[in-house]
Amino acid sequence: MKILVTGAAGFIGMHVAERLLARGDEVVGIDNLNSYYDPALKEARLARLTPHANFRFEKMDIADAAPLMLLFAKEKFDAVINLAAQAGVRYSLENPRAYVASNLTGFVNVLEACRQYPVRHLVYASSSSVYGANQKVPFSESDSVDHPVSLYAATKKSNELMAHTYSHLFNISTTGLRFFTVYGPWGRPDMAYWSFTKKILAGETIPVFNHGQLRRDFTYIDDIVEGIIQVLDRPATPDAEFDRLAPQPATSFAPYRVFNIGNHNPVPLMTFIETLEKVLGKVANKEFLSMQPGDVEATYADTERLQQLCGFAPSTSLEDGLMRFAKWYENYNIS
Ligand SMILES: NC(=O)c1ccc[n+]([C@@H]2O[C@H](COP(=O)([O-])OP(=O)(O)OC[C@H]3O[C@@H](n4cnc5c(N)ncnc54)[C@H](O)[C@@H]3O)[C@@H](O)[C@H]2O)c1
Repeated sequence: MKILVTGAAGFIGMHVAERLLARGDEVVGIDNLNSYYDPALKEARLARLTPHANFRFEKMDIADAAPLMLLFAKEKFDAVINLAAQAGVRYSLENPRAYVASNLTGFVNVLEACRQYPVRHLVYASSSSVYGANQKVPFSESDSVDHPVSLYAATKKSNELMAHTYSHLFNISTTGLRFFTVYGPWGRPDMAYWSFTKKILAGETIPVFNHGQLRRDFTYIDDIVEGIIQVLDRPATPDAEFDRLAPQPATSFAPYRVFNIGNHNPVPLMTFIETLEKVLGKVANKEFLSMQPGDVEATYADTERLQQLCGFAPSTSLEDGLMRFAKWYENYNIS
């Protein structure tokens, strides 16, 4: 297959592209290489992909419709994996417009391009943050997701709504994946596992928000990639059982669906810190702080539907995953 991966210089995008190339697909990657975090890391990720004969990269912003349309016209993609987005919850309080540009305008452009140049399947990144401050756990795709607590979450929920209209109006097969705290080698410097590692190794103090009373469903990158690939190969089809008198949120009369993709094993923040300390062989200096605005107390994925679809069964323990991250981190030096 010829597949477009948007956000290919990003953490998940690079791993997905690598995996597609390894199985023989042709991959076109696009990314605007923005400076939300060190672009040198994005360049270094790309440097792993560019030697592959079946990989091509174009620097492009999905918020810019014309070049994206030209690319679709030229390439005639079989499938699209849309991972390009402005990520991060906290930054959406400081720079909301970046989220509107990449996650709303950019996503509409991707949908429009799929409308004009049909693809077999559009798989796109949603997020566990759509569950907002819900306290019913595990989070199920049948839960209400109408109470986001950050603009980031609101844009991800909007992506699901936009995808549904395009699936319905233009018969585009779409699958949204709600990722739960993805971590691993080549990860993201703005996320806690990275910043904690950096601070612990430097002997600096780590901020422990909500006095440690947080839980996260940490999901290792290889498990996420496996899920994305399995989903990609199974385009969404209309749900024959869909009942318009009792509509379920995550499926439809249109070729549309949404899945959680997470570890189904939430870890208390203090356990996470202890595991990281063990892996790094160093005890952290901790400063206990209150809850941050936009943050949620717990994330916990119900992954039964994804398991039924494709046998999704994440297999990496937090300790193994952090060990692999730390080993990579210690060998990787960015300026
Ligand atoms: N990592 C996680 O824990 C997590 C959790 C939930 C959802 N997600 C979602 O998964 C996707 C991938 O996340 P990631 O962790 O790899 O983040 P990332 O920031 O490493 O990757 C996103 C990439 O998209 C690029 N990009 C941003 N805006 C763009 C635009 N307008 N045009 C072209 N490229 C653009 C960035 O330069 C970056 O390289 C994102 O949509 C993110 O919101 C990630």
